[in-house]
Amino acid sequence: MERLTSSELRQAYLNFFKERGHAVIPTSSLIPENDPTVLFTTAGMHPLVPYLLGEKHPAGTRLTDVQICVRTGDIDEVGDAFHLTFFEMLGNWSLGDYFKKEAISWSYEFLTKVLGIPVEKLAVSVFAGDEDCPKDEESARIWQEMGIPKDKIFFLPKKNNWWGPAGMTGPCGPDTEMFIDTGKEKCGEGCSPACDCGKYLEIWNDVFMEYFKNQDGMFEPLKQRNVDTGMGLERTICILNGYNSVYETDLFDFAIKKLEELSGRKYSEGGDVTLAMRIVADHVRTATFIIGDVKGVTPSNVDQGYVLRRLIRRALRYLKKLELDGSAMQEIAKLYIEKYGDVYPFIKENGEKIISELELEAERFSKTLEQGLKELEKVLTHIQGKVLPGKTAFRLYDTFGFPLEITKELCAEQGFSVDEEGYHEAFRIHQEKSKMGAEQKFKGGLADNAAQTARLHSATHLLNAALKKVLNDNNINQKGSNITAERLRFDFNFDRPLTPEEIKAVEDFVNAEIKKGGEIICEEMTVDEALSKGAVGVFTSKYGEKVKVYTIGCSKEICGGPHAANLSELGTFKIVKEQSSSAGVRRIRAILE
Ligand code: SER
Repeated sequence: MERLTSSELRQAYLNFFKERGHAVIPTSSLIPENDPTVLFTTAGMHPLVPYLLGEKHPAGTRLTDVQICVRTGDIDEVGDAFHLTFFEMLGNWSLGDYFKKEAISWSYEFLTKVLGIPVEKLAVSVFAGDEDCPKDEESARIWQEMGIPKDKIFFLPKKNNWWGPAGMTGPCGPDTEMFIDTGKEKCGEGCSPACDCGKYLEIWNDVFMEYFKNQDGMFEPLKQRNVDTGMGLERTICILNGYNSVYETDLFDFAIKKLEELSGRKYSEGGDVTLAMRIVADHVRTATFIIGDVKGVTPSNVDQGYVLRRLIRRALRYLKKLELDGSAMQEIAKLYIEKYGDVYPFIKENGEKIISELELEAERFSKTLEQGLKELEKVLTHIQGKVLPGKTAFRLYDTFGFPLEITKELCAEQGFSVDEEGYHEAFRIHQEKSKMGAEQKFKGGLADNAAQTARLHSATHLLNAALKKVLNDNNINQKGSNITAERLRFDFNFDRPLTPEEIKAVEDFVNAEIKKGGEIICEEMTVDEALSKGAVGVFTSKYGEKVKVYTIGCSKEICGGPHAANLSELGTFKIVKEQSSSAGVRRIRAILE
């Protein structure tokens, strides 16, 4: 087979499904809009959850895309042949449209005809059945009809052949997975795609999404039967080209080459050098995408910002092993911006921001890295036994900005482990102390922190309504919201700065609503009812489940609360800043006086 490039695979995939009635949709943000249980978009289906639950998708019932994803659960595995913290997932969906027959036969056709994989090299797995869902004889039969011999069809349990939900709850179902049989000897009697001996390499997954896992862990039938498929771009390119690892693909080879040039070392040296180059290449690419995302974040100590910080700092530490520093990180990031800019224009648009944030974070970390390393060295020569106390690990975090995994890795290099439980305990005690401190600060000054936040939250709903009205654009939607006791911060899609007149008009609109006064009403209803009443918000709740709808003056929004009790509590609304947040997204900071 000729060498297959990433852009060829993207194109071939999207074209194939376009020819079969699928609308090609753009990737969604890496930061999920609608799922508070996970920090990042982890699969192509993730942004489509509302539609898998029954909401109508504007592009129809057959969709295809390439979704950018981040998964950091396996961060420790990065450095092996396949594990990545960022990857692109090719996918096609049926939203209550086609089901097993079409999904499987198209998968077969794409693999054998478009990618030219000989049928003898394919193996598949299907769901073996359990108390939640019957054995998937139907998929097995369809595979057989396609020409996959019986001994290449493996029935596997939920652990292997069930996908989802993406968060704690959500749509999920049995799947059928497709593997390349590498031709290696079986590792034993029971050798199957379930074992990781390397004989079978997974390239695609068709999920038959007909269940909803609820909060009690029960599987309820969904209103509609969907298909959700996912093919990892990097992995597939690697396997089809017969490379040893994803780092040899055209998505990484240039970054590795640059690292070789800058460090004067060879990727092929093996051991620590290969590992360091792989980790740097992976982490810098992920950081580039997290900062450059349409809802991009910057390094911080919370949520996505903290994942980003850890990735950057870990990359810096591995760069140090190659005797390189933050400037090498920027060089690599520039190459990624160049490589991905055409496929994902926002990466190019946010190019400067990406580079400057990486630079800033490297500066911050370099200030404390040396000191922290010295401190750790000192502690390790003095402790009894081979376990670093949790309190010390916390001090390294708190004073020197060492994420736990860095401390763990540094300790492991010298044969020490870390008391992780002790670390989390120290973290918790610290948080409680600072919370108490914050409460003290508010005593006497701002009497009631929570109530003020609730008032600002209510003002946020009015602001959302005001923007739609004043800018005369019903497509304006919330892109992010962050409220402290001092101010609200609201991000929304709009592609130019607001004029001073518009800002004034938005303030006047909100203040007029506040002036009218009146109770803030919270009602529970189904998503359908909420929709029919014209409520705005993110319709992610499971079908049939009740959601809360807040009526605040002229605004109706699906929201979890809490809110003020009456509009008269809000005071006077004032916008203190209006600025760009990222490409096509504006950010407003406002207060209540
Ligand atoms: N959601 C499934 C996966 O991530 C198929 O797209 O594998």
